[in-house]
Amino acid sequence: MWFMSDNTQPAAPEVVAALERANRGHAASYGADPIMARVTAALRVLFEAPGAEVQLVATGTAANALALACLAPPWGAVYCHGEAHVNSDECGAPEFYTAGAKLVPLDGDHGRIDPAALDAALAIGRGASVHNVQPAALSLTNATEAGTVYDPEALAALTARARSMGLPVHLDGARFANAVASLGCTPSELSWKAGVDVLTLGGTKDGCLAAEAVLFFDPVRARDFGFRRKRAGHLFSKHRFLAAQIEAWLEGGLWLDLAARANARAAALARGLAAIPGVTLAHPADANAVFARWPRGLHRAAMAAGAEYYLWDFDATLDGPDDEPLLARLVCGWSTTEDEVRQLIALVSGAA
Ligand SMILES: Cc1ncc(COP(=O)(O)O)c(C=O)c1O
Repeated sequence: MWFMSDNTQPAAPEVVAALERANRGHAASYGADPIMARVTAALRVLFEAPGAEVQLVATGTAANALALACLAPPWGAVYCHGEAHVNSDECGAPEFYTAGAKLVPLDGDHGRIDPAALDAALAIGRGASVHNVQPAALSLTNATEAGTVYDPEALAALTARARSMGLPVHLDGARFANAVASLGCTPSELSWKAGVDVLTLGGTKDGCLAAEAVLFFDPVRARDFGFRRKRAGHLFSKHRFLAAQIEAWLEGGLWLDLAARANARAAALARGLAAIPGVTLAHPADANAVFARWPRGLHRAAMAAGAEYYLWDFDATLDGPDDEPLLARLVCGWSTTEDEVRQLIALVSGAA
């Protein structure tokens, strides 16, 4: 019963098979291989963006930090949600790669930036003098770190505010596939048509071994990306192996099938848990993660029976009173089974 993270999932067999095929013979290095040319073409078609610049890296942190470095100067302010991965889980990589831009964390329920909080921050930014960081970019995440999604209208409401000040928009799409599968809209509706300038499109959590694409819908913004990636040590020499993962992941809509599978398991888990007296959901389970609270005693029993997941309250532990409710983060992936979901629900209900 693995609900720890979508990163604990294996890679999809289709992706592994593609790597084996890519491993036959020689291929040009550093992204000049024919697979990369096909991936670029495929992503341009998928996103209805014939002019988009496509680059690949192996981690979401590199994708986000390098993308933001193309948008924000060292004296820039990057507005994001307080719980955004870029703000709380990247060890300062965005600040490092931008050479000092300041992340400005904003509030909002369920992992989504409150438009009023963005308005307030931008109003302060409008008055910035030489003593202050200068408004530079907006960074959003979809699906969010709280397992919710922004629909195209909610995205556009935020990006329009940024654009009204001439700020470009970055979207952390580590779980973009889960958001698209959840909303049933097109990739373009959830990106450039909703005002996104740069998307980091995550493959790793959705069936790849380690592959993320960075899409610049305005290629002018990608001007420095190649130099920044190389300088950061993130340009792979045997780049064909990154490209092969993404090619297989896109092939026949596999990326969306895998994400839909993960989302369906999370929805079933959320339904089952919500029906148990004493269990409350902290956020709507729109995508592939469930945040739920239940008493410590049942966490102890579930973990002792082999359930793997994180307690999500800051410094929460299994030591303490049995009846104190603790928040769990339960992440489903493409390989999560219906049986694992049923078993966890049975453990939490005390029926197992
Ligand atoms: C929202 C979000 N963005 C980006 C990442 C990418 O992280 P990594 O550098 O571990 O691939 C993660 C991984 O947990 C994430 O949850």
